[in-house]
Amino acid sequence: MKKILISLAAVTLMLTACGQNSKKEMKALVAYFSATGTTEAVAKDLAEVTGGTLYEIKPEVKYTDADLDWRDKTSRSTIEMQDKNSRPAFVKDLKDADSYDVIYIGFPVWWYTAPTIINTFIEAYGFEGKTVIFFATSGGSTIDKANKDFAAAYPKINWKAGKTLNGASKDDIKAWVEELKN
Ligand SMILES: Cc1cc2nc3c(=O)[nH]c(=O)nc-3n(C[C@H](O)[C@H](O)[C@H](O)COP(=O)(O)O)c2cc1C
Repeated sequence: MKKILISLAAVTLMLTACGQNSKKEMKALVAYFSATGTTEAVAKDLAEVTGGTLYEIKPEVKYTDADLDWRDKTSRSTIEMQDKNSRPAFVKDLKDADSYDVIYIGFPVWWYTAPTIINTFIEAYGFEGKTVIFFATSGGSTIDKANKDFAAAYPKINWKAGKTLNGASKDDIKAWVEELKN
């Protein structure tokens, strides 16, 4: 009888542990790069909606207005975006990168794709086997090319198609995050 009771207690304990496990919330990181503040505003809303940790991908050397001039063939952003191997440095200070289950990465669309500092960020932490989702702001271009290019370049990441969130309200963002759970 004593043995049966002990076994029953063990089974109950195991079931409770499993139940708690399945209820475990996914830990989210909302990392973003923003040169002029537009993506930053969206990132803040997304962090609030997801309860995720907000993290700014800060370039070691800040982009000046001249750096951002896309009409200038010799500007820093033009030169970086023309060189697929450019990896602008960022301040590498993200703590416990491995503890996140879902990583949202936000950026302004540059030359129809993600700024190469996003490659630097991804390569710094790897995120292999993690779920990564892009979000962006733009002057009208979509995020489709970035979704495609990055999924091909980093196949060990579990990519979910990202979205441009131009002018998105907090409710729009909430609806998108819900959609992603399906
Ligand atoms: C160098 C550079 C290239 C850009 N290229 C594009 C582009 O290809 N398509 C587009 O719709 N917008 C483009 N934009 C506009 C930005 O994506 C847009 O203004 C964005 O919201 C800025 O976000 P931020 O304030 O977070 O930096 C470009 C801006 C810069 C500075």
